[in-house]
Amino acid sequence: MGTRAKIVGTGLFVPERVVTNDDLALLMDTSDEWIRQRSGIAERHYISEGETPADLARQATERALEAAHLEPSDIDCIILATLSPQADFPGTSFFLHEALGLSETPCFDLRAQCSGFVYALACANGFIQSGMFRRVLVVGCEVHSTGIDLTDEGRDVAVLFGDGSGAVILEANDAPNDPAGVLEVRLHAQGEYARKLWIEAPSSGHMPVRIDHQMLEERRHFPRMEGRFVFKHAVTRMPQVLLETLNAASLKLEDVDLFLFHQANLRINEFVANELGIPEEKRISNIERYGNCSAASIPMLLDEAIRSGRLAPGQTFSMTSFGSGFSWASAVARL
Ligand SMILES: CC(C)(COP(=O)(O)OP(=O)(O)OC[C@H]1O[C@@H](n2cnc3c(N)ncnc32)[C@H](O)[C@@H]1OP(=O)(O)O)[C@@H](O)C(=O)NCCC(=O)NCCS
Repeated sequence: MGTRAKIVGTGLFVPERVVTNDDLALLMDTSDEWIRQRSGIAERHYISEGETPADLARQATERALEAAHLEPSDIDCIILATLSPQADFPGTSFFLHEALGLSETPCFDLRAQCSGFVYALACANGFIQSGMFRRVLVVGCEVHSTGIDLTDEGRDVAVLFGDGSGAVILEANDAPNDPAGVLEVRLHAQGEYARKLWIEAPSSGHMPVRIDHQMLEERRHFPRMEGRFVFKHAVTRMPQVLLETLNAASLKLEDVDLFLFHQANLRINEFVANELGIPEEKRISNIERYGNCSAASIPMLLDEAIRSGRLAPGQTFSMTSFGSGFSWASAVARL
C-alpha cells in the first residue's frame, strides 16, 4: 500500500437562524406539506446580517482542527469548494485563510457545484498521494440564502437550499498496518446541461457590463432549474458512479458500512437507495434540518456520521453527489 489520504478531523457549522417551511410560506405561495413531500426538508439555516461565508467556513474548520488536535499552521493546503463565493474574486478560501490567521499556506476555491466536495477530495487525495502536501484541509461552504428568489417566481428552487459549511482534514497515512484513507474517487461532468441548473448573471460574457437593470428585472441573477430533468439525471448518474467507484476499489455494495449521498432531495436519495438495494440502516440524512447546502452537504453529513458514532474507525463509507454542471462524483474511503 502506498500513501493514503486519511481523514483525521471533521467539523460542521451552520448559522444560528432557522427558517422553517412555514416561515417560507409567509414569503411565497408554498406549504410545509409541499416541501416535505417533494424534498424531505423541514427547515434550513440562513446567515444573519454581518455573517459571511468565511465565518461559516472558519467555524467548521476550527471544529475539524480541534477534532484532529491540530493548529491552522499545521495545514499545508486549503481547498474550498463553493458555488456561492464571498466575492467574485478572490475565492472564499482567501477570506478563510485570513480568518485563520495564516501566513503563506496555499489555498484555492474549486467550483463543481454540488459535486464540489468530492472533486476537492479527489484533488486533496492526489496532492497527498503525490507527496506534494501531507495535510490538506477540504472545506465545503455555501451561503445560498442571499442568492435565491424568495418570491412565487423562484419558489421551486428557493425552498430547497440552505446555508452551511463542512470541513475535513486529510493527512498522509504511510503506516503499512493502518488501512484508513481514501480508496477510490471517480469524477464526471456533462457541460451540455450547464443551463439546466444555473445562475446566468453576473456574466463576464455579457457586454458591456456583467449585469444590468434589465437582467435584474428579468431575475436572471437568481438560480433557474428544470427540476424534473435534474431529478431524472441525478437518479441515473448517482448509482452509476457509485458502482463504478466501488468496482475500482474491488468492493461490493455489501462491503460498505455507510452510504452518504449529497443532500439535494430525500426523494432522489430514496430512489437511488432502492435501485441499489441499500437498506435504511446503511444510510444517513440531514436534509430535514439543513436543506441542500451544495458543496457543504457531504462533509456536513460526514461530520454528523462520525460524531454520532454511525461511522466508526475501520468502517468503509461511500460518498456520492450530483449537481449543476451537470457534475457527478463518488468516493469510497475507510475511516
Ligand atoms: C424541484 C422538485 C422538488 C419539484 O418537484 P416536481 O414533482 O418535479 O414538481 P413540478 O416541478 O412538476 O411542479 C409541480 C407543481 O408544483 C409547483 N411548485 C413548484 N415549487 C413549489 C413550491 N415551492 N411550493 C408549492 N408549489 C410549488 C409548480 O409550479 C407546479 O405547479 P403546476 O402543476 O401548477 O405547474 C423536483 O423536481 C426535484 O426535486 N428536482 C431535483 C431538484 C434538485 O435536487 N436540485 C438540486 C440538485 S443539486
